[in-house]
Amino acid sequence: MDTRTLGNDLEVTAIGLGCMGFSHGYGKPTDVDEAVKNIRAAFEMGYRFFDTAEIYQGTNPDGSINYNESIVGQALHDVRDQVVIATKFGIAAHEGNGLKVDSSPETIRRSVEGSLKRLNTDHIDLYYQHRIDPSVEPETVAKVMQELINEGKITHWGISEANEDYLRRANAVCKVTAVQNRYSMMYRDYEKLFPVLEELNVGLVAFSPLANGLLTGQIHQSKFSEGDLRNKMPQFSEQAYQKNRELMELLTKIADRHAATPAQISLAWMINKKPYIVPIPGSRHLNRIKDNLAAADIKMSKEEVQQIDAALDAVPMSDVFGGTKVEKK
Ligand SMILES: NC(=O)c1ccc[n+]([C@@H]2O[C@H](COP(=O)([O-])OP(=O)(O)OC[C@H]3O[C@@H](n4cnc5c(N)ncnc54)[C@H](OP(=O)(O)O)[C@@H]3O)[C@@H](O)[C@H]2O)c1
Repeated sequence: MDTRTLGNDLEVTAIGLGCMGFSHGYGKPTDVDEAVKNIRAAFEMGYRFFDTAEIYQGTNPDGSINYNESIVGQALHDVRDQVVIATKFGIAAHEGNGLKVDSSPETIRRSVEGSLKRLNTDHIDLYYQHRIDPSVEPETVAKVMQELINEGKITHWGISEANEDYLRRANAVCKVTAVQNRYSMMYRDYEKLFPVLEELNVGLVAFSPLANGLLTGQIHQSKFSEGDLRNKMPQFSEQAYQKNRELMELLTKIADRHAATPAQISLAWMINKKPYIVPIPGSRHLNRIKDNLAAADIKMSKEEVQQIDAALDAVPMSDVFGGTKVEKK
């Protein structure tokens, strides 16, 4: 697969694998052996960039905790030097309808040790602050990141759901390699950050690049199993399917033109837009993991990307999940 460079020197495959769904967010966790097997198969297919987080956890049928980082660590241990592993700190828990964030230096220190252990590695290639903690200054977080780099525990760092002011302040203390923000054909708000990313030479790792699966055209239901976060996502309501009909038709038309799938077009559109965008679609299924990887081979001209943008601007679209709010302490 083609590679691209995030920040100054972090080489990753043009598409990464989002591993969250194996343990978190989409109902019951996948059986651990199967998850390990599928992540390993993704490596064999050509993926070299894997995304996880400290907070991605579920409960196994025997009641034990299913740590996503452990699964990733197990799958990739013997090929560790050939892959880029990204993980995240800074979300302590999901509470009520919000996230409890904690990026105090002491918590980061504890988190990094836990992640290294679960990932069964001596360093993390890309360590993200998962959400901004309003009670900790960006300079404080960046200083800890510089210390962790000096100690060899991490090699690069990033910020998830970063805004311009925070990114600039953090980057002034310790070079930021990538932001990991929500970005898809249905959620383009962060295009406003493009000039800043270019000025500072920071990559954009796009999470939920398929709008949590809606843009694949493969999901038609509004009710999902217990614990599946899609039950509360506005793009999966019955009315939303109606409202997004034209959008899906547009996507299918472009897909037909490229002899591709809507999922592949959703990914190819962003890869062809900017050389520093790297989507990390998540899937638990090998056929889909393979389907998504092939998007890296689809070429679109600048004009075609612009035409798609214009069509997306004009087409009716439902609301799309915008993330769980950070609760004030
Ligand atoms: N930084 C953050 O705050 C944050 C937040 C959310 C996610 N993430 C990261 O981003 C990754 C991806 O995000 P996401 O899971 O939210 O959304 P996504 O990648 O937009 O969508 C994932 C959903 O699409 C389905 N899917 C994927 N490829 C498909 C295909 N080719 N055909 C049909 N269905 C397909 C998956 O189902 P199956 O699994 O059933 O195939 C899953 O339900 C996560 O794994 C995680 O690593 C980060």
